[in-house]
Amino acid sequence: MKKTAVKPVKVGVIGYGASFNMGLHHLREMKSVGMIPTAVCDIDPARLEAAKKDWPGIETYRSDKEMLKQSGVDLVTVITPHNIHAEQAIRCLNAGRHVIVEKPMALSTAQVDAMIAAAKKNKRMLSVYHNRHWDGCILQAMKFIRAGALGEVYRVVVHMGGYAPPRDWWRSLKSVSGGILFDWGVHLLEYTLQIANAGIVEVSGYAHQGYWAPKVAWKHDANEDEAMAVVRFDNGAWAILCMSELDRDHKRPWLEITGTEGSYAMEHDTYALTTTRDGERITRTGRNMPGDWQAYYRHIVQHLTKGAELTITAEWARRPIHIIDLACQSAEKGRALPAKYR
Ligand SMILES: NC(=O)c1ccc[n+]([C@@H]2O[C@H](COP(=O)([O-])OP(=O)(O)OC[C@H]3O[C@@H](n4cnc5c(N)ncnc54)[C@H](O)[C@@H]3O)[C@@H](O)[C@H]2O)c1
Repeated sequence: MKKTAVKPVKVGVIGYGASFNMGLHHLREMKSVGMIPTAVCDIDPARLEAAKKDWPGIETYRSDKEMLKQSGVDLVTVITPHNIHAEQAIRCLNAGRHVIVEKPMALSTAQVDAMIAAAKKNKRMLSVYHNRHWDGCILQAMKFIRAGALGEVYRVVVHMGGYAPPRDWWRSLKSVSGGILFDWGVHLLEYTLQIANAGIVEVSGYAHQGYWAPKVAWKHDANEDEAMAVVRFDNGAWAILCMSELDRDHKRPWLEITGTEGSYAMEHDTYALTTTRDGERITRTGRNMPGDWQAYYRHIVQHLTKGAELTITAEWARRPIHIIDLACQSAEKGRALPAKYR
């Protein structure tokens, strides 16, 4: 891959949304590691006005094609709804720009393959904003796992959910979001793949649909009420991810990790590690170490300017998408499907 010369990296974002101010967040993070916020693209003029207030003098564009034609940005971060990540990333790569895509990288393995092919063809960097790779909860869990506190991990169970009608926004539309597994599910699988540290053999998927759909206006395009992915790994371990909008029970731990030497309950802020000594159960609880989301762009700038190894590669980011893609197909077919990418 061609390295950008050692000069500040000029950056642009596509998508400057108001929901979580993610465009502002990315540009601030990029600026904090020495990159130069240069351009913002959004189809919504009100969001371009917001960008101009946040970043006086910044270039603004109503379309990514216009930005790619007129702006001198070296790196573009795509922060738009999920269904357009692949096409926008490929357009940027074909225009000779390095690209970061917000999670989920895309909505199918085939889309990810096309993105990786475009990055290779154009000799440009492609990465995905897996900021939660540096969440305190997973950093803490991995510290215990690497120290052997859990022995050999053979089961990871993750659930997230609630009981509420879906909100009226693009995240509730299956054709735009990809479905219930694609938003937080990608973060949770990215944790799980670190914990399991093994190749994916096959995936079974389950989905329930139709409880909330009749109650919403977009009923023909509603996400699943609940969906599940069960992953079999090549070291004999397995993982279960369950995302639900029908879940009235909030008492279970967020992530349960079970190993030959211990059990671990991982919550966002706290942990509980249970082991046994001389037949007696010992539970150690504590607060997770601090997270470090800034590590993501630190690594990117080191990669682009110093040739350091990329932490979140496109191939790594393909794995959660591949699992969810297989789970969605499996739910329709009613049988487990083998993984193409381990
Ligand atoms: N990593 C994280 O912690 C995290 C947190 C929140 C959101 N996200 C991700 O960020 C992405 C965006 O989510 P959001 O919450 O900011 O959504 P949002 O709806 O607030 O913002 C999306 C923006 O994209 C713009 N847009 C839509 N189509 C466009 C197009 N063709 N060209 C240019 N702009 C276009 C919209 O006008 C809007 O301003 C999603 O992938 C989401 O999953 C990640």
